[in-house]
Amino acid sequence: MLREVTALRYVTPLREGGSLPGVVEADDLGTYVVKFRGAGQGPKALVAEVISGELARRLGLPVPDLAVVHLDPIVARAEPDEEVQELIKASAGANLGMDFLPGSLGYDPNAHPVDPALASRVVAFDAFVENVDRSWRNPNLLIWHNALWMIDHGATLYFHHNWPRAESVVHRAYRWDDHVLKPYATALATEGPALAERLTPALLSEVLDLVPDEWLDDGDRDAYWSHLSRRAEQPEAWLP
Ligand SMILES: Nc1ncnc2c1ncn2[C@@H]1O[C@H](COP(=O)(O)OP(=O)(O)OP(=O)(O)O)[C@@H](O)[C@H]1O
Ligand SMILES: [Mg+2]
Repeated sequence: MLREVTALRYVTPLREGGSLPGVVEADDLGTYVVKFRGAGQGPKALVAEVISGELARRLGLPVPDLAVVHLDPIVARAEPDEEVQELIKASAGANLGMDFLPGSLGYDPNAHPVDPALASRVVAFDAFVENVDRSWRNPNLLIWHNALWMIDHGATLYFHHNWPRAESVVHRAYRWDDHVLKPYATALATEGPALAERLTPALLSEVLDLVPDEWLDDGDRDAYWSHLSRRAEQPEAWLP
């Protein structure tokens, strides 16, 4: 189970995020970056955050803790910004929270060399989940306590935007020309297959079980599982 908390206070919007994520304080005294279910991207972005984020964590990659953040729209009352107020009102129920990393810095490849094994594992993982959001323009990596952290997996698994066509893209290759860690990912030949081997049907099923029911349609869990476990069987198709 993901941790379940209740939002007490909306602190501030993160304006740089396209989906208007916000910083929220919750009843466990935690502070979370929340992706709202009512945002334009819709619940599928939240589903992708959970599946990919928790998969990465189980593969030993650094992802801040995720939580389901329950929201009572009454929280919107204290919010002066109309856009934020509407977003909160449209997001009653379960939303996606990620532990807020205070004082973290956006990743800069020139300032922060990354260990070749770690960089290669991040690239291999991104290739599996088809992450198009790890470019040098928009790295979606943070530096915190001098270590690398992976955030924002909302754009992964984009096959789920077109289920009728998903079948035909199970073995789609990964385009990684502008991947921000490409210069450091020099151990892919060994790290790639090692990571792929750990993508077992059991692991995928464990991760899929964590997605809240209310973000899914009937049959979705099986459809993700079938797609991802078949993709995992043929790493030579997608490993760079
Ligand atoms: N856990 C976190 N701790 C601290 N800051 C964070 C965290 N998550 C996100 N941020 C900050 O908020 C910004 C937006 O977050 P994120 O990339 O997840 O949102 P998004 O709406 O999907 O963004 P975009 O679509 O623009 O990439 C990040 O670039 C980062 O600066
Ligand atoms: Mg982002």
